[in-house]
Amino acid sequence: MATTNGAVENGQPDRKPPALPRPIRNLEVKFTKIFINNEWHESKSGKKFATCNPSTREQICEVEEGDKPDVDKAVEAAQVAFQRGSPWRRLDALSRGRLLHQLADLVERDRATLAALETMDTGKPFLHAFFIDLEGCIRTLRYFAGWADKIQGKTIPTDDNVVCFTRHEPIGVCGAITPWNFPLLMLVWKLAPALCCGNTMVLKPAEQTPLTALYLGSLIKEAGFPPGVVNIVPGFGPTVGAAISSHPQINKIAFTGSTEVGKLVKEAASRSNLKRVTLELGGKNPCIVCADADLDLAVECAHQGVFFNQGQCCTAASRVFVEEQVYSEFVRRSVEYAKKRPVGDPFDVKTEQGPQIDQKQFDKILELIESGKKEGAKLECGGSAMEDKGLFIKPTVFSEVTDNMRIAKEEIFGPVQPILKFKSIEEVIKRANSTDYGLTAAVFTKNLDKALKLASALESGTVWINCYNALYAQAPFGGFKMSGNGRELGEYALAEYTEVKTVTIKLGDKNP
Ligand code: NAI
Ligand code: MG
Repeated sequence: MATTNGAVENGQPDRKPPALPRPIRNLEVKFTKIFINNEWHESKSGKKFATCNPSTREQICEVEEGDKPDVDKAVEAAQVAFQRGSPWRRLDALSRGRLLHQLADLVERDRATLAALETMDTGKPFLHAFFIDLEGCIRTLRYFAGWADKIQGKTIPTDDNVVCFTRHEPIGVCGAITPWNFPLLMLVWKLAPALCCGNTMVLKPAEQTPLTALYLGSLIKEAGFPPGVVNIVPGFGPTVGAAISSHPQINKIAFTGSTEVGKLVKEAASRSNLKRVTLELGGKNPCIVCADADLDLAVECAHQGVFFNQGQCCTAASRVFVEEQVYSEFVRRSVEYAKKRPVGDPFDVKTEQGPQIDQKQFDKILELIESGKKEGAKLECGGSAMEDKGLFIKPTVFSEVTDNMRIAKEEIFGPVQPILKFKSIEEVIKRANSTDYGLTAAVFTKNLDKALKLASALESGTVWINCYNALYAQAPFGGFKMSGNGRELGEYALAEYTEVKTVTIKLGDKNP
């Protein structure tokens, strides 16, 4: 969607999507080791761990399992790469941008391979991986590539006879810990701004989905980034993740994942060295459908908003508030949509929904579905797992949901749509805001005054009006309240990856 892009007047940008790729099944996995200094290493402990395909529950391959000593080695490499006079620090800003463009070119070249790896590791539909995840990666890399030579400070008038200006300098070694729902995209959201600002990095992909991050390592080397600028240590949260968040030589950490672990990361960051922290955590996002909305649009957006990515989105529309006049019609149409949703083999081009990521998530979702039944919500469709060896759950819709039910309060992270009823705008604002989360909100109405009133009253980092999951590399994303700290994407992200230095020069008192 284009809005104020100068080249686009009131219409669609003139950009053709890439041709439909042929899904690559059973791809041979090439990169399974720890990536430090542009080289592949075995883990110091000699341990490996398996990564599985959730649509078959079969092992794809084994990956080197990092731990604290491997993190130490990665941090050392990143520190050396950041030292004054290093090839990375000597690089001019335009060349830094060029390297990011080069990386974007390589991601574009290997787009189908990366999408296939993502599909094998996560179970997400291949076409979604190709057209959504990879598209987002490429655009994010190119967007921040363009910023590299535009990062500048200010000249500041003061009360004294001085010249005072600011420099926006890189922070140093940045850690990133990323989740399994959008493995490559969440990593690129951190890597692109960090590198554009001149930092170096130590990355940990989620243990469920390490493969695309490691493949990206090979592209980083091929693109020509100097050794040590990006280092990738696969492994588990309590080992590699904890070592990164508590490392005294890491100056900043960016985390996406659960609120529970977000707190641990921030604690460890404080205890170790007060490293800068950005957190992108959970959500229990309200989606408000007013009686005057375009109902077709609202039903479709709410459906995609909650079921997209198997429901495993921090932005999931997991509290749909519908105004009473249109409530039963909205429920009827939503159930129709859910029943038609094609669930199955993620490599099949017709599939819209694959399996859940792992047994833990699968069990959590089914348990929450049971709680909904017990607490008196009306099960309209779905409500159980599919009979399959993969971790598939039927698209589930609950109506007659009330605010006190667990399905209306807890992040479900699965294909479950709870639909609630409201009577007035004041009431729905209060109910929508009565949560510790504040990531996104959506509003469907044709009334501009109502839309703007809700946009200002809702406590969330993003408000979508008559659309859903409209995310752009140019627009900041992040949470109010316990949905996180700081912002990713857009110009705002640059502030999270730079330190501001004030330089003050005293001028001579005598006129020359
Ligand atoms: P998680 O928060 O444990 O995993 C995210 C990342 O944190 C992974 O890389 C993991 O290895 C790492 N991690 C785990 N423990 C750590 C520790 N002590 N120190 C440092 N890093 C650590 O999330 P999990 O268990 O996979 O999912 C639980 C719930 O979290 C989900 O059901 C969902 O509600 C939410 N979630 C939210 C996400 C989002 O996009 N905001 C993404 C993934 C999960
Ligand atoms: Mg996996």
